[in-house]
Amino acid sequence: KQVALGIDIGGTNTKFGLVNHRGQILTKGSLSTDQYGTPEEFVDALYSEIQPLIEEFSDSGIEGIGVGAPNANYYRGTIELAPNLPWKGVISFADLMTAKFNSPCKMTNDANAAALGEMMYGAARGMRDFIMITLGTGVGSGIVSGGHLIYGSDGFAGELGHTIVKPGGRKHWSTGSEGSLESYASATGIAITAKKMRAEFPESMLNQYPEESINSKTVHECALKGDPVAVEVFRYTGQKLGEALANFVMFSSPQAILLFGGVIKAGDFILKPAKLHMERNLLPIFRNKVRLVFSELDEADAAILGASALVWEK
Ligand code: BGC
Ligand code: NA
Repeated sequence: KQVALGIDIGGTNTKFGLVNHRGQILTKGSLSTDQYGTPEEFVDALYSEIQPLIEEFSDSGIEGIGVGAPNANYYRGTIELAPNLPWKGVISFADLMTAKFNSPCKMTNDANAAALGEMMYGAARGMRDFIMITLGTGVGSGIVSGGHLIYGSDGFAGELGHTIVKPGGRKHWSTGSEGSLESYASATGIAITAKKMRAEFPESMLNQYPEESINSKTVHECALKGDPVAVEVFRYTGQKLGEALANFVMFSSPQAILLFGGVIKAGDFILKPAKLHMERNLLPIFRNKVRLVFSELDEADAAILGASALVWEK
């Protein structure tokens, strides 16, 4: 059996692929996560999508399943109290998958999976110390130190999206914390910033859109057309991100920070202020040493590859 199933569960979409030993994706697909009321229904849907592909692409079935998910626990194979998923509580997701697919299943945090994918096949090849930051519906991270992902005592290490970048700041829509990186630098946070700012500046192009279409994509469109308010939304986001990155660098001294996820489509509008504010807040011994780069792999591929890598891991 030379084929692994890699699955990346996101707040909005779930991506899956069959991957061989050399990291080639034989086939891939996706489905929307938020239309399934229970994890059991979701696993049934995954099975009906994927089982025919397994039969088509592998003579002898799959070697195993690797899953990346928000708030996934590596030690217990669970998804626990995820702030941006439709299902609440503690879910024994790996057990559900094993029962349905009759195959062993390992789980890790979605951002950890992306870090593994980049480490094995992408921009982080050969790196022993780096931090992956994923900027999507939420903000996730994978901390690689000395060539290994950090899991910590309970298997949840690396929830950097929930670290505080502005004490007493914006209240998180789900966790209730105040001033977390996620509440500013996620796609969700950027939409909140944009809505606030357009209300303050009636002349902003952002006011030409209905409330529900304000997101990082429309803000990007306005920034490209030169709307200073849209540019400021990204500058402020980049500043909050950069300040947070400075903290992370001083914590684990990485060679590089990889940025990943839908939000990075905003490019230099975010990257430039992020770099500026990271460098400005670093202790001088760390300055001008850490590369800040966009991930190399296609977004879907990195997470699928990373998740599937769990299957080959010893
Ligand atoms: C979750 C993380 C996850 C990130 C990105 C956060 O809200 O707590 O576990 O990695 O979102 O999905
Ligand atoms: Na993580």
